[in-house]
Amino acid sequence: MRLSSPNINVMVKACRKAAKILIRDFGEVEKLQVSLKGPGDFVTVSDKKVEKILIDELQRARPNYSILSEEIGLIKKDEEFKWIIDPIDGTANFLHGIPHFGISIGLEHNKEIICGIIYDPIKNEMFFAEKGNGAYLNDQRMRVSARSKLMDCIIFTGGPAFKSNDEDKKLSLKEYEKFSSKVGTPLRKMGSASLDMAYVAAGRCDGFWQRNLNYWDIAAGIILVKEAGGFVTDFNGNDKYIENKNILVTNSKINEQMIEILKY
Ligand code: IPD
Ligand code: CA
Ligand code: CA
Repeated sequence: MRLSSPNINVMVKACRKAAKILIRDFGEVEKLQVSLKGPGDFVTVSDKKVEKILIDELQRARPNYSILSEEIGLIKKDEEFKWIIDPIDGTANFLHGIPHFGISIGLEHNKEIICGIIYDPIKNEMFFAEKGNGAYLNDQRMRVSARSKLMDCIIFTGGPAFKSNDEDKKLSLKEYEKFSSKVGTPLRKMGSASLDMAYVAAGRCDGFWQRNLNYWDIAAGIILVKEAGGFVTDFNGNDKYIENKNILVTNSKINEQMIEILKY
């Protein structure tokens, strides 16, 4: 079974085209690890190249849609539809030759995310979803996991970022400490928030929380998780995760248990 819709087809095509460059550049980055200068500048150029391919492809297919993309910012057109793009999510992994990063594209309709795609080019895993039509990993329908006891769960998180303020750093570490005593398997920090959300949708991970995420990190993941039967909330169980940037993503069983630990 395969979800095929005009917008998903446009997103898949853009991702596949950009991924060719991303895979080629990743090969170069691996070689650059041993060079004196390192791959930093090369990665910045690669990020922008990938973004340009995505934007060109999306604009060609949907000339009137607005775009919000991490590197270039806002391209304002019609307000009704907006692409939300993170060209490389997991840049630090990419930079260090760690094969875990993705391209993330969400589509907003009247401020609501209605389609999302997260593509891991190295593992050739395409996670995508459309409102009302389910969530898929390649050709397979995705469902969130059914684990209900935190002790049995695998939980992901990320941060705190180097540039986070002291208060946020303290809170993140406190949360890390609290969860560490509740889960049987140690917490995971995989380094790509969009893939973290895709993994919750795919039932590989049971829950994920993180402070200070930007809209492009989470836009596609929101619809993936919802369509796979999971929950997306802020730390208080409300839907203000885009505004306050703190997001909690879970299967349908452990949402309340995680809120109990995170709420403030
Ligand atoms: C980052 C990744 C990372 C998360 C950071 C994000 P980037 O995005 O999603 O997992 O912990 O907060 O900024 O910089 O690789 O696009
Ligand atoms: Ca990101
Ligand atoms: Ca990025």
